[in-house]
Amino acid sequence: MEKRTIPRHIGIIMDGNGRWAEMRGLPRFEGHKRGVERVKEISEAASGIGVEVLSIYAFSIENWMRPEDEVSVIMGLLESSLKGEFINFMKEGIRFRAIGNRDKLPENIRAIIEGVEQATEKNNKLILQCALSYGGRDEIIRAVRKALDSGLKSEDITEERISGFLDTAGTPDPDLIIRTSGEQRLSNFLLWQSAYSEFYFTNTLWPDFTKEEMLEAIHEYQMRDRRFGKVASHHSSDLSTGVRSVF
Ligand code: IPE
Ligand code: IPE
Ligand code: MG
Repeated sequence: MEKRTIPRHIGIIMDGNGRWAEMRGLPRFEGHKRGVERVKEISEAASGIGVEVLSIYAFSIENWMRPEDEVSVIMGLLESSLKGEFINFMKEGIRFRAIGNRDKLPENIRAIIEGVEQATEKNNKLILQCALSYGGRDEIIRAVRKALDSGLKSEDITEERISGFLDTAGTPDPDLIIRTSGEQRLSNFLLWQSAYSEFYFTNTLWPDFTKEEMLEAIHEYQMRDRRFGKVASHHSSDLSTGVRSVF
């Protein structure tokens, strides 16, 4: 795979756990369990090909509205997987970071997150950014509040300053966002940061998603022409030499 065009930052909306379980006549939590297990292979594969940041959408701020028993199963899985993966993060050089609204998380989860973030702070192979209790609009609201509290004046507001107040501060915007399970929407994921992301949608349910499919998504990404509002790259020389207009 060509190194030059490897996305620096990939976001994944890990959707379809419930349907995966229901299709098999299993309770939804079995799907969540299988879903959590997929994260290890995918993050190690991303790290292996030189991706710098992997953002995974694990629990949205809207997901708090799910039935209480499902929410507590997901919180339990988070707790056990964070504890269980810690050694592996150290071995693999993975820096863990949670993004999202921590005030809504139970105290024990918050404490584990903080512990794992601190312990993995110096790891530098891959940043695994886990969106937990996360909503893009909520993140922007909290960023605006932080900006006002810091005394920022209206004339000092720039895209860079706003980015710097977001939970994702310091990481590049996602180049590629993958969503599994066939849904084609953002569901409040990385709203500000995805302004120029490329999207890859697949019908595969998250518990069935493999590293091979991630490589396929990256391959498709590599064929895209990212114009960022400019004209296609093969036209730019025409313009500069004045040979012909692109219009
Ligand atoms: C994604 O799977 C995981 C979370 C949102 C926590 P879902 O639980 O949304 O699975 P479906 O969409 O119901 O199949
Ligand atoms: C989005 O999935 C959130 C996560 C994958 C964690 P949902 O299943 O909650 O999204 P909607 O409700 O289908 O938009
Ligand atoms: Mg879903």
